[in-house]
Order: sequence, then structure tokens, then C-alpha cells
Amino acid sequence: MAALPYPSPNLLAPMEGVTDPLFRDLVLARNGAEHLGGATTEVVRVVDHGLAARILAAALGRAQAGDPPAPGDHGRPVGLQLMGADLGAMAATAAAAVEAGAPLVDINFGCPAKGALRGCAGASLLDEPRAVEALVRAVTDAVEDAVPVSAKIRAGGEDDQLLEDLCRATEAGGAALVTVHCRTRAEAYRDTADWQRLRRAVAAVTIPVCGNGGVEQHTDLARLLQETGCAYAMVGRAALADPWIFSGHRATNAESAAFLLEYAAGLTARGFPGAGGRGGSRVKQLLAHWRAGDGPHGLLGPDRRAWLRIPNEDELLDAIARAGSL
Ligand SMILES: Cc1cc2nc3c(=O)[nH]c(=O)nc-3n(C[C@H](O)[C@H](O)[C@H](O)COP(=O)(O)O)c2cc1C
Repeated sequence: MAALPYPSPNLLAPMEGVTDPLFRDLVLARNGAEHLGGATTEVVRVVDHGLAARILAAALGRAQAGDPPAPGDHGRPVGLQLMGADLGAMAATAAAAVEAGAPLVDINFGCPAKGALRGCAGASLLDEPRAVEALVRAVTDAVEDAVPVSAKIRAGGEDDQLLEDLCRATEAGGAALVTVHCRTRAEAYRDTADWQRLRRAVAAVTIPVCGNGGVEQHTDLARLLQETGCAYAMVGRAALADPWIFSGHRATNAESAAFLLEYAAGLTARGFPGAGGRGGSRVKQLLAHWRAGDGPHGLLGPDRRAWLRIPNEDELLDAIARAGSL
């Protein structure tokens, strides 16, 4: 089994609509390898045929399949996440992922979106450990030990009774790592996060477990590892609130504003400008979480909604620059 590529235990979670190469670059640049060991692409959906290596290279932020790691990875591995249920299509795509240069292939068993559930992929498979094992096996066989395979599951579907079986299924299928989002599919993104489930996952398998769910501040990262025995800790939404969460650096308003402006400029350069365009909506999506900056509320201050009401992107970016005294 290929060794895991991460230089340190804290990882940025895959987040569709957010963790594109540009956003990953901004976060990786602000957290050294000793604080942030790696990241994952946005989920790539695989339906009924294998995807071409060039499509997967784009998700990895590389111009062409086989290119060296993107400079924006800052020397950190970025795993490629696939979601699908068709064994042949997933196997073919996993082989193409190796060709594209992915240092790790991750399989999504956690997405509760209706499309994933209808297509019997993502979190719909959480009721069927044997199907989980078969899918992991198809992918690990396809990559032929060239790169490690990980599986990202939730603690269960309707409840957490199958948690241990699900973890063991990923191990039996050949996964080198299982990431456990400690909420069930039914719990979706509920505020509470039960880390006891992470301890159960660690006890169930011999492969390393990455614990995910409910990390809210920098100190929670070490606490999660210590309290659960997990080898890795993965952060999702809290990294959208504060991209410096991995290092624990308290960003100033100027640093906070500079991140957002750099993100907006990068999106514009990629052709996503305009208040109604994807660039505008991606920055606004981030503002819905954003807390980085001075004081308890950060750059945005106590009235976050006022920022979300600004209709014009230029006005929004000017206001961000003013708040950061840039
Ligand atoms: C906007 C958003 C997009 C997400 N997209 C993905 C995805 O593409 N793949 C995946 O495995 N999980 C996805 N997730 C789930 C996160 O990776 C993570 O498991 C979840 O947010 C729990 O971690 P947290 O409590 O630290 O946020 C997404 C979550 C959010 C908030």
C-alpha cells in the first residue's frame, strides 16, 4: 500500500464551490507545512464513464495531465476526490487520476446532496458497507499502489450503528486512510459534533483515521487528535471563517482584507467577475462564514448581514479594502 503523502496531521477539507485551486493556494500560502499537511480538491462526480486525465488535472490546478505539482500547492499534496457508484467508471477515473498526477485519490461517501443520493453515490452508500468495500477495492485495484487511496465517510446514514462496519469496509477495500465526518447523513451539518464516534472509528481499524467535524478554532486541532486517537484532523467550515486556523496566527484586518481581495482578483483573472457572476457569489459565500481579522467579529464587525446586502461587487470590494485600511 502506497504511503500517505501528508507532511503533518492537519488537513483542509474538500468543499465544493470553495476549495478550488485558487482558494487552496491562498490557504496553503498562509499556513506552513508544519501546520497544514495538505488539502483535497472539490468533489469530482463520476457517472457512467471514466473521466479524462485532463479534466482531473484541471481539478488539481494543473494545465495538463502529468504536469508537476502546481506552484500553488506550496509543496503540499492535494488529493483528488471522486464520487460515483459505477465501479468501472470509478476505476477508470482513478487510473486517469494517477496519470493526471494526483498524489492521493479520495472517495466521497459523505455527500448528502439529492443528486448524489439519487445516483446511489456519496452518502447513499452509508447503509451498505459491502458496497463501500467494493467501491474502495475497485479504486485501489485501479491505482495499482501508485498512490494511496482514502475514503471519506460520515458516522452513518440514519444513525451511527454501522460506523465500525463502514470503517472496516474501507480498510478491507484497501484504503490507506479513512476520514470520518462525525455527523451522520441525517445530521447533515448540525452544530453538534460527537467526537466519541471518532474514538470508535480509531478502535475499529488499524489504518490511520482522520477526524472531521466540529473543529472551530486552532486549539481544537490538537485536542481532536489527543482526545480521539485520530492520526489526522480535517477542517471544513472553520477554515472558511479563518484560513489561518491551522497555524493559529491571529490575522489583522489588513491581512484579512488582503486575502479576500486577492481571492476576488484571482477569480476575476479567471473570468468570474461581476456581482451576479460566479466570482462575486464565491466571495460573498465566503463572507457568510468570514471571521478573520481584529477583535471578536473580525474584519466584518458585528453586522455580517449588512455586507451580504451590498449588491454591487465593486462596492463590496471597496468596502473590504476600507475595512482593512488598504
Ligand atoms: C460548502 C461545503 C462544501 C462541501 N463539499 C464537500 C465535498 O466536495 N466533498 C466532501 O467530501 N465533503 C464536502 N463538504 C463537507 C466537508 O468536507 C466537511 O466534511 C464538513 O463540512 C464537516 O466539517 P466541518 O464541521 O469542519 O465543517 C462540504 C462542506 C461544505 C460546508
